[in-house]
Amino acid sequence: MRQHRPGSTWMGYMGPARLDLRSDTITTPTPAMLAAVERCSLMDDVFMEDPTTIDLEAHIAALTGKEAGLLVLSGTMGNQLALRSLLTQPPYSVLCDHRSHIVQYEAGGVSFLTGALVKTVMPRNGIYLTLDDISQNSCTDEDVHSCPTKAISLENTLNGVIMPLSEIKRISAFARQHSIGLHCDGARLWEATAAGAGSLADFCSLFDTVSLCFSKGLGAPIGSILVGTSETIKRARWVRKSIGGGLRQAGVVAGPARVAVDETFGKGPNGHGGLLQDSHIVAKKIEELWAQFGGGVLYPVQTNMCWLDLQSAGLSTAKLVKLGQDAGLSLIGNRLVAHYQIAQNQDDVLQRLEQVFGRLWDGAPKGQGDEESNQKRLYLGRV
Ligand SMILES: Cc1ncc(COP(=O)(O)O)c(C=O)c1O
Repeated sequence: MRQHRPGSTWMGYMGPARLDLRSDTITTPTPAMLAAVERCSLMDDVFMEDPTTIDLEAHIAALTGKEAGLLVLSGTMGNQLALRSLLTQPPYSVLCDHRSHIVQYEAGGVSFLTGALVKTVMPRNGIYLTLDDISQNSCTDEDVHSCPTKAISLENTLNGVIMPLSEIKRISAFARQHSIGLHCDGARLWEATAAGAGSLADFCSLFDTVSLCFSKGLGAPIGSILVGTSETIKRARWVRKSIGGGLRQAGVVAGPARVAVDETFGKGPNGHGGLLQDSHIVAKKIEELWAQFGGGVLYPVQTNMCWLDLQSAGLSTAKLVKLGQDAGLSLIGNRLVAHYQIAQNQDDVLQRLEQVFGRLWDGAPKGQGDEESNQKRLYLGRV
């Protein structure tokens, strides 16, 4: 008989993640994912001999329409290996959205792992980068004073918002025309696909490399994957080894990741996205509940995130977090993230949120706000 301790993964849907809206990274693995650890092969993946890992890499490569895949420990590792592999001979620079995970939350890795100049761009539409933003900020001439753009890194979804396939097609054509490597931080690309914005292969065909996470909304305990051409993945495998990311019995990571893909992403009306779609519905319900109190959101709610606009309502982030805590909910700021464990427990979560929102709006000093704290929180916790 297994022991169910507080926080134990064996608690499944009843675990602490059911009341945690801080991020989808806190999802705990399902019993099926944990059972996969018992079933997986236990061969050496540095020797490339582990069937469970090789199978997973081939499966995701096929799903995304790419030649090869490489299991990595984290989304950060996937992004960093991709950029290190795409960039060859300096001088070179990387272009990305100013809110990108690769610049804001990866410990400056791009700078010290590649030495690239990173140029960040604010999307003019306030939501996602367009070809105009990219072309106006890229350096494609041969002036020796300039630092040529050799990689563009896009993020999809970013803040829960989908970058449309049509815009990526335009950016991809531009990148190809100028021999610029195109990477996608697709930590949550699954969410865009589950929302009906295009298949994984539709998106991935437009990029040289894509990194996708198993340990966010999909619920696996560890792991991400980098996909690309066989040549790029061969290089990335080498870089992975150099930073200590070569795993031995990697099946214990790959096994649960495969279940996460098959069950959290794979089951659904169109053969994908079922559990993820449930979390999108919950994010919409949170937006609707918030709207009943007169609140607006900072970004369109298209997937599993709802960003409350506290500032225009003169509401304090610190108070929201405290009221959440009093109601038994874990919140980190104005970003509320739904995931499958929240979806399983949605009635309970929505009731608690109603109570939190009610108390927050009751004491609202209208027209002003804890601006400094709001701004700080806005950028906190984008994990
Ligand atoms: C968009 C995005 N990319 C990459 C990462 C990095 O993933 P990891 O925490 O596995 O390194 C995160 C983490 O939350 C993320 O939100």
